[in-house]
Amino acid sequence: MRERSLVSSLWDDAGGEAAVTRVVQELYDRLFVDQMVSFFFEGKDKAHLVAQQVRFTSAFLGGPYVYEGKPLPEAHAALPLLAGHFDRRHHLLRQILAKQAIPQAVADEWLRVDEALRTSVMKSGEDARALART
Ligand code: HEM
Repeated sequence: MRERSLVSSLWDDAGGEAAVTRVVQELYDRLFVDQMVSFFFEGKDKAHLVAQQVRFTSAFLGGPYVYEGKPLPEAHAALPLLAGHFDRRHHLLRQILAKQAIPQAVADEWLRVDEALRTSVMKSGEDARALART
């Protein structure tokens, strides 16, 4: 019998790296062709974003990876993100978590953290939003 760690994590409950990567891959596959938000991703490196997002998710679901990419405000500073764009991504994530049958407790925590990051993701985009209005 496989030994089971005494300390289990939401990352393990989700199905570990393979399962989390499947969710994140489908999220970016959809974001890159989505009518509302795909323009943000033109010319971006999807594989890099997926890898970074898996590490980022690992950090809050108790997985083995540490996120060492740019802080979220810096990563999104050049993007004229509006609340509706954030909502769209969050909605797609919710749909994918359900479709891929990620356990409810994991999905709830993932979506809770995602929503809690709204301010960090959006706060530095004011200059980009002002430019987009001109
Ligand atoms: C809680 C929500 C979000 C999280 C956790 C998140 C996470 C990330 C991470 C980890 C990166 C990579 C940073 C790096 O390369 O080091 C990134 C970049 C990026 N994100 Fe997000 N993101 C979120 C919301 C959004 C939204 C709503 C959009 C657009 C609809 C978006 C579009 C992008 C784009 C286009 C990049 C690439 C920026 C560049 O390389 O110039 N993100 N995001």
